[in-house]
Amino acid sequence: MPTPDVSDEQPEDAFFAGDFRHPGLSEPRTKEEWRDYLDYLLPPKPVLLPLDVYRNLTDQERSRHNAARAAHHSALVIVRTSQMKSIHHQIRRRMMTNSRQPAGARRGIVLDGPATLGKSTLVKTFAYDFEHELRRDHPDRFDKRYIVDGLLIDYTPVVYLNIPSQATPKDLSVALADYLAQPYRSGATKSDITRLVLDNMRRVGVELVIIDDAHFMDLSLKEGKVVNDHLKHIANHTAATFIYTGVDLKHSGLFLEGAGGARATQTAGRNTLLHMTPYNIRTTAEKADWVSVITAMEEASSCTSTRPARWWVSGSTCTAAPEATSALWRNSSEKRPPTRC
Ligand SMILES: Nc1ncnc2c1ncn2[C@@H]1O[C@H](COP(=O)(O)OP(=O)(O)OP(=O)(O)O)[C@@H](O)[C@H]1O
Ligand SMILES: [Mg+2]
Repeated sequence: MPTPDVSDEQPEDAFFAGDFRHPGLSEPRTKEEWRDYLDYLLPPKPVLLPLDVYRNLTDQERSRHNAARAAHHSALVIVRTSQMKSIHHQIRRRMMTNSRQPAGARRGIVLDGPATLGKSTLVKTFAYDFEHELRRDHPDRFDKRYIVDGLLIDYTPVVYLNIPSQATPKDLSVALADYLAQPYRSGATKSDITRLVLDNMRRVGVELVIIDDAHFMDLSLKEGKVVNDHLKHIANHTAATFIYTGVDLKHSGLFLEGAGGARATQTAGRNTLLHMTPYNIRTTAEKADWVSVITAMEEASSCTSTRPARWWVSGSTCTAAPEATSALWRNSSEKRPPTRC
């Protein structure tokens, strides 16, 4: 999750001490868990002790200090890479274009890329920023609560769904209902649940729907049409912007509505396809970008060792040690060498 400014004044119970919760976060499945994600405070960065001070700590002090460093490194930072900034910009523009459009399905965004490249991180960071801006600009909306037909209606601008494998259209509606705490009777059909969900989404003011790991939906050419039609139905009846992320979505049924070429074009026209690509270090610009990632990691780290650190960023094409980044840096447009750990 995005890193707020670290300070020594963070509350000690940043990990929800006392209620047996794991100190880390899991993927949110409900609006309450999404709000936990928004409110989560990262472990603060421990003060970096000079090596002689560190060596003179008692065993207990050293163990406590190292535990704090380990907690900080475990969370580390989200680096705002140039790719992330550029895709965030495109999503923001899409949302602005969609915001006042006439009723009907708005154009969505499909974020495609190889596994573990940072797709989920990128879209969650966008949604995190988006909802925090709303909290800042419209705090009143977040204070209001209504009961309609026995159901709590509270402002929920973001829906984040992590799709389970082999998800059917009904699974998708159930996941939406569970996220929104929308009850439905046992034996309810897909249409029943979808209708309840659509009413609920309108009432709670959903503006952004993220469907993460969309490749887990059965988007094969055979089943893909049913899923697509269902997604289109949901998107048609909400004013929200939809973002789908996944692996190899370009070649999935998500861009096809049927066997015919004409219908395939129809769906492709509904979503904008954006690609995430691994880092490269071929050009000066690419090297500078990679160095800025490593530098951000180095600056966030709390190391006392004199050994060179080895960093690996998920999805990158290379593993880089500080000596390597220094070499890259010399060839990049930036002047300052990265700090050593
Ligand atoms: N910009 C970033 N800064 C720091 N760490 C990142 C960044 N992007 C991704 N990571 C880290 O890389 C790992 C993989 O990221 P993520 O889960 O977002 O990838 P993904 O493309 O969604 O993977 P999958 O294809 O498995 O769904 C995570 O541990 C995440 O914290
Ligand atoms: Mg993911």
